[in-house]
Amino acid sequence: MSKQRKRILVVGVAALDIINEVAAYPAEDAELRALDRRIVRGGNAANTLAVLSQLGRTCAWAGTLGQDAEGSQVIEDLDRRGIDTGACILHPHGSTPTSYVILSRAGGSRTIVHYRDLPELAAADFARIRLDGYDWVHFEGRDPNEITAMLRDCARRLPPGTGVSLEVEKPRPGIEALFMGPDVLIFSRHYARSRGYTDPRGFLRDQWEHTDAGLLILPWGEEGAYAQPRGGRICFAPAHRPPLVRDTLGAGDVFNAAVVDGLLAGLAPPALLHHCNALAGHKCGLLGLDGLVASAREAGVL
Ligand code: FRU
Repeated sequence: MSKQRKRILVVGVAALDIINEVAAYPAEDAELRALDRRIVRGGNAANTLAVLSQLGRTCAWAGTLGQDAEGSQVIEDLDRRGIDTGACILHPHGSTPTSYVILSRAGGSRTIVHYRDLPELAAADFARIRLDGYDWVHFEGRDPNEITAMLRDCARRLPPGTGVSLEVEKPRPGIEALFMGPDVLIFSRHYARSRGYTDPRGFLRDQWEHTDAGLLILPWGEEGAYAQPRGGRICFAPAHRPPLVRDTLGAGDVFNAAVVDGLLAGLAPPALLHHCNALAGHKCGLLGLDGLVASAREAGVL
């Protein structure tokens, strides 16, 4: 199958991001003017899809939205990018998740205050999605009960050879139940630290007894990223640093997109990590996600 025709389903959050750019992160109880404001569609799953579609993949999103103006904005944005939103559940109760982001020009850090009161996608909703024809399904590791059921559903209904990956970003009670089932687990540094690890290699080694995955990946911020295939050695690739760090919002979501893209392209761990670091690092030098892949290609980074 040609690269263009690979189909990917991503299950997780889409949100509306209200991003205030400030000169520097404020002190508590300060009052300050934003230098710029952008209101854009965000959310880990939706951001990952925005990048996968730029990489030439055929993309679909499964998640929930409120029946409100913000939900319409999210759908319009995904539609504009050619991302299939047919599996979206609109909830009459609850509002579209919103993130209030302070983006500091002094270093590009992003501080996110996220508000949600919306039910997550349920396993019963997932069961209604036709899964044939997908080459990859990626999950955000959220509600352990629902996603465990979705992973079982994937095992039953996905055609052999379809990859399944899961992002373990935040420590949540019971999230370790999701380590069984996916082919690839993408951990966050935040999660590893929450488990008491300061050494990424030690963290990776200790995960194998909890998972039947074939590959573990662990981005480690500005240092770089680690990966280990089952029974293989841990490899590391240094981060790609842009000349100026302008905006780190969504860099992790870009990294995840590059993982899925690289694995579909058949990259082995060292080349895969290089691909992921290049795209996520390049993103940090740009505002937002639009035009990311074209810009990375132009800069010779991809
Ligand atoms: C960035 C992001 C934002 C979103 C928040 C919560 O990684 O996806 O776009 O609002 O995280 O999902």
